[in-house]
Amino acid sequence: MAFKYFQWAIALPFLLQLCAAQTYSSCNPTKKTCSADTGLDKYRSSSDFTSGDSAFNDWNTSAGTVSSTSLGAKFSIAKQGDAPTIESNFYIFFGYVEVKLRAANGTGIVSTVVLESDDLDEIDWEQLGAYDNQIQTDYFGKGNTTSYDRATTVSVSSPEETFHTYAVDWTSSKIDWLLDGNVVRTLNYADAVGGSNFPQTPMRIRIGIWAGGDPDNAEGTIE
Ligand SMILES: *[C@@H]1O[C@H](CO)[C@@H](O)[C@H](O)[C@H]1NC(C)=O
Ligand SMILES: *[C@@H]1O[C@H](CO)[C@@H](O)[C@H](O)[C@H]1NC(C)=O
Ligand SMILES: *[C@@H]1O[C@H](CO)[C@@H](O)[C@H](O)[C@H]1NC(C)=O
Repeated sequence: MAFKYFQWAIALPFLLQLCAAQTYSSCNPTKKTCSADTGLDKYRSSSDFTSGDSAFNDWNTSAGTVSSTSLGAKFSIAKQGDAPTIESNFYIFFGYVEVKLRAANGTGIVSTVVLESDDLDEIDWEQLGAYDNQIQTDYFGKGNTTSYDRATTVSVSSPEETFHTYAVDWTSSKIDWLLDGNVVRTLNYADAVGGSNFPQTPMRIRIGIWAGGDPDNAEGTIE
């Protein structure tokens, strides 16, 4: 059966809050010895995915094919297992990230903007295709998945037909999630298991789409 779902994304500014050109330990530093990572080599950067292939210079396509179109980067799912994803080839260590996104509309299709570190700290925006009036925020500290109670649901009007701006303002003391410029969630350092589960390691930015109901995915992610 033929089906096809699209997500479009235009990534706007990424601001690195601390000094530029820092390097960090790579792979999972809590598990093994690693070589240095590349930090964002500028204080501020941005990608306009409507502008052609050069828009992907700071990004690696880690799965599938993602192309520049007049609407932005196009992520499409045409068959089971498709999960086109791009990730920044730089890391930020605290900072501000903003993505203008129109989510995909298929039931079971998940559109995501994720900041993720090598040791699995994570800050998420996740839009579930079945719900065209809401989006979720979530976070993980060091891959701690002992409970799935960290997500919140935020109302947003027709995220699958209209572009909205989803941002994360990440500092050492708190994380703000912003929808169209308004703070819709704040996580304070102390709220994340006294800070131990607060995301506090260098992160890459990942933008992608995947089929949440795909039988090949882990049980907990299938609705
Ligand atoms: C980007 O992709 C290239 C080619 O697959 C790979 O060699 C490189 O390590 C990747 N860079 C990052 C930062 O992941
Ligand atoms: C879902 O989105 C696709 C591509 O944007 C569009 O062609 C299709 O009509 C949409 N389907 C529904 C049910 O809104
Ligand atoms: C993982 O998170 C739970 C709460 O969700 C917390 O009780 C537990 O202490 C955390 N584990 C670690 C290793 O931080």
